[in-house]
Amino acid sequence: MRNKERLAVLGAGHVGPVIARLAIAAGYPVAIATSGDPDDIALITELVIPGAQPRWASDAIADADTVVLAIPLHRFAELDPGLLAGKIVVDAMNYWPASDGVLTAFEDDSGSANSRGSSEIVARRLAGSAVVKALNHIGYHELEDRARPAGAPDRRAAGLAGDDPAAVAAVAELTSRLGYDPVRLGALRGGRVLQPGGPVFGQVLTLPEFERAVDEEARSLR
Ligand SMILES: NC(=O)c1ccc[n+]([C@@H]2O[C@H](COP(=O)([O-])OP(=O)(O)OC[C@H]3O[C@@H](n4cnc5c(N)ncnc54)[C@H](OP(=O)(O)O)[C@@H]3O)[C@@H](O)[C@H]2O)c1
Repeated sequence: MRNKERLAVLGAGHVGPVIARLAIAAGYPVAIATSGDPDDIALITELVIPGAQPRWASDAIADADTVVLAIPLHRFAELDPGLLAGKIVVDAMNYWPASDGVLTAFEDDSGSANSRGSSEIVARRLAGSAVVKALNHIGYHELEDRARPAGAPDRRAAGLAGDDPAAVAAVAELTSRLGYDPVRLGALRGGRVLQPGGPVFGQVLTLPEFERAVDEEARSLR
């Protein structure tokens, strides 16, 4: 691993701290940020994400190679794309109208499931970043509990997709070091299978089970 690769995790709610903890355990330097003052999360960070550095989001992003978006999608519009330019951006967000409200830009207007990928829409806004959809489809409890080192017999798989091959390689390595067999699904469009309504969303599958689920979905769409 490039030990110096620095991670900024935006979001200190449910999934952000889990990703941060797994990344610290894997040896990544990690900064964590909310939309507010890092002093507000200093104590909780010390207690639940020991080793992570609470920072202002803009500072965390500026010093990071990879930025994980672990914020609700309805807050995404608050982020300044300029700050994220030149970064690898891991989009761990999902579109949940029940909690996000209806976001017109992310609505499926075709009537068929997964005909619009939320990460493709995110990537359009972050045109200067290399967006990789990853770490979005496993619930935060399981993401932590089911993480296993490479080669463990009960290791599970996690999918990722992106248009920039170097970014995809970096995020595949991150996924692996966090504890999951990375499954590359091709370009960002291929990540639609990872989102709510897709065949692996909410599932914690072994590599063969994951590949089978994705293949069956692809066959059903032919
Ligand atoms: N929960 C899961 O199991 C899970 C698993 C995988 C993926 N996801 C996805 O991950 C995203 C976050 O889910 P969650 O359940 O962790 O949400 P959450 O518990 O509501 O936490 C959201 C966090 O994002 C922060 N935040 C909001 N706007 C921000 C901004 N502009 N800059 C920096 N931080 C900001 C919030 O802090 P402030 O409001 O104080 O800024 C809060 O710490 C969602 O899109 C969800 O679908 C969730």
